[in-house]
Amino acid sequence: MKNILVIHGPNLNLLGEREPDIYGKVTLETINNNILIWAKKNNMKVDITQSNHEGEIVDIIGKANSTYAALLINPAAYTHTSVAIRDAISAVGIPTVEVHLSNIYAREEFRHTSLIAPVSSGQVSGFGQHSYILGLEAILTIINKS
Ligand code: DQA
Repeated sequence: MKNILVIHGPNLNLLGEREPDIYGKVTLETINNNILIWAKKNNMKVDITQSNHEGEIVDIIGKANSTYAALLINPAAYTHTSVAIRDAISAVGIPTVEVHLSNIYAREEFRHTSLIAPVSSGQVSGFGQHSYILGLEAILTIINKS
């Protein structure tokens, strides 16, 4: 069994109450439960973590390649700012899929740039909580190819 690590970035712990017109009313707990249901159906082991701290996310990614075959990450605001997270993904070389609940290209201009996309296998953006499931499906395709 190949393990997948899901990383939720800053403020995603507030989903449900945070800007529901943009992110919907779904909570992180519900998203995580749906991820675990998907994992069971697809016979995959998925671990899930959330952090509001850039350095902590860098540490998590840096340790990931001994355990995980792929990463699914919603870097949240760090998408647009973090060279450190980008370099960590690049350093470990684990296939990574970037996901966003909202369509970052339909929002403010500062969200149109992702520092993470160039070091990712691909990006899913704009499908609400379903972005995570689409991202996991993409990871399955990547894992099954290797
Ligand atoms: C987000 C989009 C980011 O621009 C924003 O900073 C977030 C959430 C999304 O999932 O749509 O916190 O990553």
